[in-house]
Amino acid sequence: MVDFTLTDEQKALREMAHDFAAKEIRPVAWEYDRDGTWPEDVLRKAWELGLMNTHTPEEYGGPGASYLDGTLIEEELSWGCSGIATSISANGLASAPLALGGSEELKKRYLSMLTEDFKLASFCLTEPDAGSDVSGMRTTATRKGDKYVINGSKCFITNGGYADWYTVYAKTDKDAGHRGISCFLVPRDDTVSVDKKEDKMGQRASNTATITFNETEIPAGHLIGEENKGFKIAMMTLDRTRPGVAAMATGIARAAFEFATNYSKERVQFGVPIAMHQAIQFMIADMATKVHLSRLATWNSAVLLDQGRRNTIESSHAKRFAADAAMEVTTDAVQVYGGYGFIKDYPVEKLMRDAKIMQLYEGTSQIQRLVIARETLLPRRVDEPAAAVAAG
Ligand code: CAA
Repeated sequence: MVDFTLTDEQKALREMAHDFAAKEIRPVAWEYDRDGTWPEDVLRKAWELGLMNTHTPEEYGGPGASYLDGTLIEEELSWGCSGIATSISANGLASAPLALGGSEELKKRYLSMLTEDFKLASFCLTEPDAGSDVSGMRTTATRKGDKYVINGSKCFITNGGYADWYTVYAKTDKDAGHRGISCFLVPRDDTVSVDKKEDKMGQRASNTATITFNETEIPAGHLIGEENKGFKIAMMTLDRTRPGVAAMATGIARAAFEFATNYSKERVQFGVPIAMHQAIQFMIADMATKVHLSRLATWNSAVLLDQGRRNTIESSHAKRFAADAAMEVTTDAVQVYGGYGFIKDYPVEKLMRDAKIMQLYEGTSQIQRLVIARETLLPRRVDEPAAAVAAG
């Protein structure tokens, strides 16, 4: 049976996240955006309330929330500010590969570290010359006795400047393309440097840094999953986190839709509120439809994960549709505000800037279409170990 009714617990969770967004995020969002301030105070409060590390299983101190629960939280936080929401959710992206393929010892130590204290972790996949084309990465991990030595630079790393540990993808066989990539847990030490904090168009409250590993030594037991199987772990991770990005895009679109709707009822032109003009009504109607469908696609992609099913195509549908919808809805919201929409004193120009990253990070809208086309034209069976699906 298809039923979109949330349980009382889910409604309460959504309300709690909304309350947090309204009281702790919205009031500072525009100021943090202007100054590019990293919102440590908000993150600490989110951590205390249990809004960080939401998918971490109870045995490692987390709430073990479902993927659907996660999307409910992420939409609300992003409604407050998607830059702050990205900072809050980055631990989830970094932890997913560990939950999927890490040894029990590694999970116990590093997942628990994030729930016992306010600590951060970052996901390090992208490199200057390897964005969409993951297999083009140049970072290497060389086995030396009972250690691996990591060398290379990763860019666009969320919370990178503040992370206590990193999940790092590196080549363990340079000539084997995607079959030569492995995934590692790398604690931060003196050999890890933060080279650059990006000055961004949007999501200015989130920290985005370049991280360099310079002869960084880690124990061999910090390998996540099997050697040369890291690419699959990366793809399985993104299947699990793209619904969260779709939820964040829905939150941005919803915020823009609400601002535009309220403004259209107040702004008078030609003697009537502009909401009385059909040209505006149709824009509002299209916004409402896009927010609604973004949420449905997001929930669908999350529920499949909760059922232990592979969601690759649904995850890409949701991420692609919600990201493009957020860009369209925020652009239309600026249009509804007219010239005022272009001015920083009004809220929607920030939302339009923030929306852009939704079409870029965790796989561009073009990469999502590539995944959808491949899954449609050449559906292939991907063997995911059942245990990994459950853990994810
Ligand atoms: N689950 C499991 N396995 C999968 C999979 C999935 N969803 N998708 C692919 N695979 C497997 C394939 O079955 C294949 O396996 P074999 O080795 O057994 O043949 C293997 O992986 C290679 O698959 P492809 O041939 O499809 O690989 P590709 O090189 O053509 O790349 C891609 C595919 C979709 C383009 C992929 O590289 C991709 O998703 N790129 C985008 C990367 C991305 O999203 N980066 C975002 C970084 S994170 C971020 O932005 C966050 C932040 O903090 C800012």
